[in-house]
Order: sequence, then C-alpha cells, then structure tokens
Amino acid sequence: MTQTASSGRLTLVRLAPEHAADAARLHILGQPGAFLTSLGADVLTVLYRTLPQSPVGFGFAAIDPARPQQLRGFVSATTSVGALFAEMGTRRLPAFLPPLLRRFVGRPALAVRATQTVIYPFLHPTPQGTTPPAELLSIMVEPALRSVGVGALLVMALFTECQQRGVDALDVTVDAANVGAQRFYVRHGFTYTDAFTLYGRAMYRYRAKIAAGSTRVQA
Ligand SMILES: CC(C)(COP(=O)(O)OP(=O)(O)OC[C@H]1O[C@@H](n2cnc3c(N)ncnc32)[C@H](O)[C@@H]1OP(=O)(O)O)[C@@H](O)C(=O)NCCC(=O)NCCS
Repeated sequence: MTQTASSGRLTLVRLAPEHAADAARLHILGQPGAFLTSLGADVLTVLYRTLPQSPVGFGFAAIDPARPQQLRGFVSATTSVGALFAEMGTRRLPAFLPPLLRRFVGRPALAVRATQTVIYPFLHPTPQGTTPPAELLSIMVEPALRSVGVGALLVMALFTECQQRGVDALDVTVDAANVGAQRFYVRHGFTYTDAFTLYGRAMYRYRAKIAAGSTRVQA
C-alpha cells in the first residue's frame, strides 16, 4: 500500500506490534497532558503492542520506506471498545500490570482514572438491536509532518478497512479544546453527535457513517 502525501513518498502498512514503541512516542507528542499520555511510554507501548494482536483491533502506520523503523504517523481503531478492554483486563493483564503498577505508585488519581476508562464502555453500552459502531482510538502524525495530508491518508485507509469489516459507523471522541482535530474529522465526513465529561474534561463525540460497498463515507 504505497501512498503519496505532499510530504513525499510514504507507505501505509498495517499497524503491527513492532511499531508499538514508536506509536507510544507519537501518542505522547500528539496528546500532551491527556490521560493516556499520563500513563507513560511503557504502558502505551504495551497498549500499541496488544491492539494489533487483538481480533477487534486494527490500524495503519505511515512509514518512509527509507526509514521503516520510524513511524511518520499512525491511526488505531477497534470494532468493539468493550471487547478490547475486556481482553486487556483479562488475557493481556499480565503485560499491562507491571508498567501500570510502576506508574500508579504515588499517583492514586491515575489508578482511579484508569478504572474510569475501563468501565466507560460498560456504562454506555450500545442499545440492543443496533450494530455497534467502531471506534477510532487515536490518530497521530509526526509534528513536523502535520497539515500535509498524512492524516488524510490514514483516515481513508481506516474507512476502507471499516467498510471491509462490515462496520457501518465509526465514532471518535475528541477533547472539546482540540479544535484542529475536530476540523480534521469534519472534513472527513464526521458529524458531531454528543458531549460528555471524561476525566473532568469536556469531550465531544463525532460519528462517520461508512457507506456499504464503497470506500467513501456517506454524506
Ligand atoms: C489531527 C492529525 C492526526 C491530522 O493529521 P495531519 O497529517 O496533520 O492531517 P492533514 O494534513 O490530512 O489535515 C490537516 C488538518 O489536521 C488538523 N491539524 C493540523 N495540526 C493539528 C494539531 N497540531 N492538532 C490537531 N489538529 C491538527 C487541522 O484540521 C488541519 O487542517 P488545517 O490545515 O486546515 O488547519 C494531526 O494533526 C495530529 O497528529 N495532531 C495531534 C494529535 C491529535 O490531536 N490527534 C487527534 C485526537 S486523537
């Protein structure tokens, strides 16, 4: 999958466990002060190593073929936040516990927020009889490469994958203060659905409808 961004020639590959440490690096650069960032590079590395190994997790990485070990950007998503968190809280717990416990020492508020994160999807289940939307979990582009179309390549690859997985809607939660990201999502067909508070911060949820049989979002 080779794509051209105005930044030069980039290859999109599936997000893989070997991208985890660099995905964590980009996550921290892209979301300073956010809760997941506060969990630290070790926890994020386990998260990004685990996610592509899960049947409900997927994503894409933009790499420069000349430097394949360095991510220029990535996007991650899940077809079920609940199933992903359940997997992380059970089968994958041994990988998460050591870096989490190291991080929680002396920071009890972090442990409370981590618990809020894990139980959130169970408090807001999908109504019965409706197909659950997929969730865009994170999209991060190397700061020096922003605003030249890398994010657009990543989100288009994600829409195609969602369509192939039979997903008909893709949700994303964005900090209300992150107006740049909201502009980006709206440009790619997401529309505002609702607001809620998470970790004491105002969050907005946006949704893109995925058109069946097409790689384009529905207008
Ligand atoms: C949002 C982001 C993934 C978009 O990737 P990108 O490669 O810059 O996207 P594109 O070049 O296709 O589109 C550019 C648009 O992205 C948005 N954008 C650019 N820089 C941004 C930044 N620092 N923070 C948030 N959004 C930004 C703007 O809407 C921009 O449009 P504009 O040039 O008209 O202002 C990228 O900017 C980024 O990594 N931001 C920081 C992390 C983040 O906020 N992620 C989203 C929440 S999970």
